[in-house]
Amino acid sequence: MSSSAVECEGLSKTYRVGFLGRKVQALKPIDFVVHPGEVFGLIGPNGAGKSTTIKLLLNLVLPTSGKARLFGRDVNEPSSRESLGYVPEAPVPYEHLSGEEYLFLQASLAGLGGAASKQEVARVLERVEMKRHAALRIRQYSKGMTQRVMLAGALIGHPKLVVLDEPTSGLDPLGRRLVRDLILELRHEGTAVLFCTHIMSDVEMLCDRVALLIGGAIHKCGKVSELVSDTRTHEVVVDNATREQVLALVQVDDALRIEVVAQRVMLHVGETRLQDVLRQLLNGGLTVSRIQPERIPLEETFMAALRTSNQHGGDLE
Ligand SMILES: Nc1ncnc2c1ncn2[C@@H]1O[C@H](COP(=O)(O)OP(=O)(O)OP(=O)(O)O)[C@@H](O)[C@H]1O
Ligand SMILES: [Mg+2]
Repeated sequence: MSSSAVECEGLSKTYRVGFLGRKVQALKPIDFVVHPGEVFGLIGPNGAGKSTTIKLLLNLVLPTSGKARLFGRDVNEPSSRESLGYVPEAPVPYEHLSGEEYLFLQASLAGLGGAASKQEVARVLERVEMKRHAALRIRQYSKGMTQRVMLAGALIGHPKLVVLDEPTSGLDPLGRRLVRDLILELRHEGTAVLFCTHIMSDVEMLCDRVALLIGGAIHKCGKVSELVSDTRTHEVVVDNATREQVLALVQVDDALRIEVVAQRVMLHVGETRLQDVLRQLLNGGLTVSRIQPERIPLEETFMAALRTSNQHGGDLE
């Protein structure tokens, strides 16, 4: 039996749309694994195939090729979803129910009844800070309140895997923080979390590993630090010098940028030129007071990847 929370091999999806059955290749064959207790982020532009991947993992759409397993069980076996919490991209809740009634329904679907169900509903309501709105009908909720109750539903029964499609969309800053704390708490409890998002700061803060999907293919997959490491630069600070003094020693090009702040000249130097630039500055009699690696934000890596690939989700014919 596999120990992975999620595992997919050669998983792909081509939708057929319209009267003529035009093909839309949403996902080319992809492979990735999510380990138990790991927070895994799926990022990518609109139409990249993130939601399709999630739906395939939950057997909500059928693959064109490949296999997916949850905790070692093929996703076409209902038992693969025994310990799963899921919030879709655009949930369609039973709006005539109150938040609390919806959660009792979720609890009964998770096999809980009586006191256990009451206790669990109270716990998750508390967790998403919705206790005081519990009796209100979902149709009377704001978008963010609905999102919170959906999240609460995904927590019922302490699932071993929680899958969230854009969990922070529609939430105010407090709500976003709540979701972030929740994801970290789930990880602490050993729950695997797979979520997709466009919010790079959430990814950097939360994810153990990330897959960057572009045009239905995994462009990069790994730890955030590995994804951004290709483009690392160093900030080199030269004290008590002018821009002209520095420019007399080093040449500005793609791998070197200069800015002047107060009496300091700051150089942003690419890895390949660092040793040479330091030698030139020191040999020229200038004082280097600081050298520190600058991590290119994930957002820039994301944008650079998009620029080199013009593809978004794709039509085939
Ligand atoms: N049911 C469907 N029928 C036909 N095409 C679909 C269907 N669902 C998605 N697609 C297409 O598949 C591609 C991927 O869509 P998907 O919803 O997976 O993207 P996404 O990465 O989740 O995008 P977003 O960030 O906008 O949510 C898009 O080209 C989309 O038009
Ligand atoms: Mg989506």
